Amino acid sequence: MSSRIINFGSINIDHVYNVTQMPIAGETISAKSYKKFLGGKGINQSIAAFKAGAKLIHVGAIAEDDAWTYAEIEKFGINCNHLDKSRHSTGHAIIFVDDTGENEIVIFGGANQNLEVSQIEKALDGPTGNKDWVLIQTETNLLTEIAVKAKIKGFKVAYAAAPFVEEIALELIDKIDFLAVNEGEASQLAKALNVDPDNIPVPGLLITRGAKGATLIENGKKLQQSAFEVKAVDTTGAGDTFLGSFLSVYIEDGNAAMALEYAAAASAVQVTRAGAAVAIPDRQKVEAFLELRKTK
Ligand code: RIB
Repeated sequence: MSSRIINFGSINIDHVYNVTQMPIAGETISAKSYKKFLGGKGINQSIAAFKAGAKLIHVGAIAEDDAWTYAEIEKFGINCNHLDKSRHSTGHAIIFVDDTGENEIVIFGGANQNLEVSQIEKALDGPTGNKDWVLIQTETNLLTEIAVKAKIKGFKVAYAAAPFVEEIALELIDKIDFLAVNEGEASQLAKALNVDPDNIPVPGLLITRGAKGATLIENGKKLQQSAFEVKAVDTTGAGDTFLGSFLSVYIEDGNAAMALEYAAAASAVQVTRAGAAVAIPDRQKVEAFLELRKTK
């Protein structure tokens, strides 16, 4: 049976403001431009995994009257069977992107923080294959319930500890097979556990380091991946692209080095375009990028 990823993931409407410089406390500034995009760490990861070839099921919720977000998700080819219509508003993010491509983000959870247990049970129902994974991030509620139920059903569980909430990360640490964190999140969690970041006690640990690349530590074995040099326009969703792409290739092929290289290439291409989900490249584009870099 081919592998599946069931992603219990956030969905946001990203309101993106391009600014010359980030505003400081008490300051009012004018944006150079404004655009509305599909975003949310969960759906970004789903789209990256799907574009890399994963059999992907996205479980999430948006407002019952929100036709725009539904249509955006459908446009990417993501199956919407497990998308609940919520009485809460669709989650959203206010995002500032400066001239260097860096961002600052404030999110409002809305429907993402009101997933229901019945939705989880329905999504996990049916036979589980030995290469089936469940993916979660900190932008939805019910994370412990999802992880525990998924493990009982025989899924492997991957957790992206973003946005970082210490209590939630500590609660989940012994219930997961794979943890994805950026450098800052790794340091915070390691400090709370009183260990070195590389020794966070999980079977698989992915630490992304932006332009410095990524480290994968799997059962004590360490692999480094450097980042490809590109001119970044917007780094929003780069980490999501890395994780979704990595998991898709890794689960299907079991080759961690290849999956890391693919993920680094996918996120390098992604940051050269504006927006989060819309900027995620498909497999053909990523492979063409890799080919070009190898012949240079
Ligand atoms: O990781 C990027 C994402 O974080 C954005 O798309 C935004 O919605 C926030 O969830």
